[in-house]
Amino acid sequence: MKGAWVLLAAFASFTAYYVYLPLPSAIAEPWKLMMLDAVLRSIQDLSNLVHFFGFSHHLRVLNFVSGYMSKLDAESCDNVKVTDTVFDGVQIRIFDPIEKRDKTLKRGVIYLHGGGWTLEGARMRTYDQLCRAVAEGVNAVVVSVEYRILPDVHFPEQLNDALHATKYFLQPDVLAKWSVDPNRIALSGDSSGGNLAAAVCQQLIQDGNAVSKIKLQALIYPVLQVLDFNTPSYQQNMDMPILRRFLMAKFWLHYLNGNSKYVEPMLVNNHTSFDVSQAVALRERLNWSSILPSGIQKHFKPVVQTVGTPELIQEVPAIFDVRASPLIAEKESLKLMPKTYILTCEYDVLRDDGLMYAKRLEDAGVEVTNDHYEDGFHGCMIFADWPLYFSVGARTRDNYIKWLDENL
Ligand SMILES: *[C@@H]1O[C@H](CO)[C@@H](O)[C@H](O)[C@H]1NC(C)=O
Ligand SMILES: *[C@@H]1O[C@H](CO)[C@@H](O)[C@H](O)[C@H]1NC(C)=O
Repeated sequence: MKGAWVLLAAFASFTAYYVYLPLPSAIAEPWKLMMLDAVLRSIQDLSNLVHFFGFSHHLRVLNFVSGYMSKLDAESCDNVKVTDTVFDGVQIRIFDPIEKRDKTLKRGVIYLHGGGWTLEGARMRTYDQLCRAVAEGVNAVVVSVEYRILPDVHFPEQLNDALHATKYFLQPDVLAKWSVDPNRIALSGDSSGGNLAAAVCQQLIQDGNAVSKIKLQALIYPVLQVLDFNTPSYQQNMDMPILRRFLMAKFWLHYLNGNSKYVEPMLVNNHTSFDVSQAVALRERLNWSSILPSGIQKHFKPVVQTVGTPELIQEVPAIFDVRASPLIAEKESLKLMPKTYILTCEYDVLRDDGLMYAKRLEDAGVEVTNDHYEDGFHGCMIFADWPLYFSVGARTRDNYIKWLDENL
């Protein structure tokens, strides 16, 4: 009997330690978010443990465990035909709304899923549900791209896969095969997929007229820069579920093929210190004290070091590559961007990446809708269905679909 009490007490303190987090009162379903976060953290801890014992790379375990729980086969339903196929060597899942009576062409949405450039998201339940909802709600053919992932390939391969799949889809005969109107195509993605969507859009400009085929870009809490880990939102939300600042910096280093030992120097902005000549021009393009409204800056102070960690920059030169950080593109390139939707969440380290891109695009003359959620947290839009339902998840998803429907 005594033993049972000891066990119970141990279990209770473990739960309290592992699950309980103080969360802002604006978060509507705090216990659900704590549970979701605890599950995700335990998968990460398990992956690190397996890695530590040398059985497999932790990112591979992370992808395996996440996929094991939630991967779906391509299954059509009454309103949407779902098919797995290949576009120019890249795996694709297509969601095709079943023909309505009228013979008009459909719209097209190229979707790039999130997951730290590490998860095979296109086949996961969450993204499968999202793409079905978009296909139905917008009457659009949704092309969900299963780009290759970490640790098998690094930057810029994920981006190249996204670019190849996009260009393949944009060919007139392919669009005709899927009955898609060439003048009504959107590029979209969330989190690291938002990073890829923004970068693909910028890359298409360099192909001359290809960009005119993209009518809209819709970026959901996108990752847009690796140069400042101390924006007000990074400072305010560094311990916020489900994406902590430390994890984001780790994903970045893996993506850019750098050693994880550089996480700590990056978190104090040692890679963009005053003595780093490459950072001089770029610092101005993401100087949040001049780009963000003062209300959002609150009491936070910019972090700029006098001296940094020079070997970090030598070993990870991609840090200054605009294809990795679309936020630092020149104004001349931004001018050519299509009409843009950017969804941001208050309780997200990436909030200011999105807000700064919205402002820079607007300053370059692009029409931008910034849809901001005061009670939003990172990743919420894919948690809009049973069993992972959050009210803010359903609201963000509905409004995103509504915007696409009204503007595409
Ligand atoms: C940042 O760079 C300075 C100067 O090289 C160094 O002294 C400091 O330890 C670095 N900070 C971190 C967290 O690595
Ligand atoms: C950022 O902008 C502020 C306000 O405009 C300015 O005072 C500061 O010098 C700028 N910092 C950098 C590094 O450009």
